[in-house]
Amino acid sequence: MRDSIKVILFCFLLVIPFLTLACSQIKDYPTDLEQLSEDERLVIRFSHVVGEDTPKGMAARKFAELIKERSNGRIEIQVFSNGTLYKDVEELDALLRGDIQLIAPAISKLTDLVPELSVYDLPYAFNSLEEVHEFTESEAGNRLKDLLKMHNLIALSLWDSGFKQISNDIRPIEHYQDLKGIRMRIMQSDILAQQYYIVDAFPRKIDFNTVFQSLKKGDIEGQENTLTNITSKNFYSLQKYLTISNHGYLGYFLLFNLDFWESLSDEDRELITETLHEVQEWQWQLAEDLNDRRLQEIEECQCIQIYYLSEEEKKEWEEHFTPVYHYYTQHYGDYYIQNLPKYKYVK
Ligand code: LMR
Repeated sequence: MRDSIKVILFCFLLVIPFLTLACSQIKDYPTDLEQLSEDERLVIRFSHVVGEDTPKGMAARKFAELIKERSNGRIEIQVFSNGTLYKDVEELDALLRGDIQLIAPAISKLTDLVPELSVYDLPYAFNSLEEVHEFTESEAGNRLKDLLKMHNLIALSLWDSGFKQISNDIRPIEHYQDLKGIRMRIMQSDILAQQYYIVDAFPRKIDFNTVFQSLKKGDIEGQENTLTNITSKNFYSLQKYLTISNHGYLGYFLLFNLDFWESLSDEDRELITETLHEVQEWQWQLAEDLNDRRLQEIEECQCIQIYYLSEEEKKEWEEHFTPVYHYYTQHYGDYYIQNLPKYKYVK
């Protein structure tokens, strides 16, 4: 009897190391990403056109890192910057086809699809970035986002680039009349074209990634953009004059292909939505800081002549652009304009 107890005990001791090894392997399995099959991993391809050190480029990287960390590597967001995968219009087509799952285009570039969105492009539509954020989260902003859903797109976040400034090679722009006759690059938006028609300039819709070459070749003589874009793509090295006009907003909707979004589990959607919310707050601050820093650098380099519009001058410009608001109203109604924060509280 005693002998058989000893044998059982001995066998038990022999088995313990194998049990421990087996348990530890089971426990480790989910964190070993190499072991996850294609079906178990979720890859989201995110294409955008700007440089890495811009408010959009940095936020894209932060978003990808946070999602990787919070999903233990199960969700991978592959970021393709600088238009390496798709250029301006191509990226939207690729998203609509489902070839990629996420883009963050300038809202202006969505206006061929949803022209009502060009309310964001109206000159001096917003007095501050806070007003842009308020409008985007308002009922009017939600209605605009719903229009995107009709095209199988869902906007989950707004990222800022900031307010646009004007650079050119012909003359200092101190008054809107100084824009007369200048060939200006704009993004793909009819309202932006109207803005330049009103001042007798010649707007040309050109892809972001070819602006530098077009300036260099002299196809265009000026352009409007935020300081982070103007510096990251070195536009200012080809231009003599810069006007700090803050005349228009440039920002991005984070757009998922809606079919893809709806195919995700509730948990994944929640993780992505919450993370995007956090990144958005961080991104807004970053965009402001980076634009301030770039202005300081441009001032210090003394490589371009800068003119700052005063508050009175901005008011004059805004008034002069009134026909652009009429153009918008004639084509798309006055609902969105009426709901701009600058008009909403005026009795
Ligand atoms: C532009 O085309 O000027 C911008 O939309 C680029 C960007 O994405 O910021």
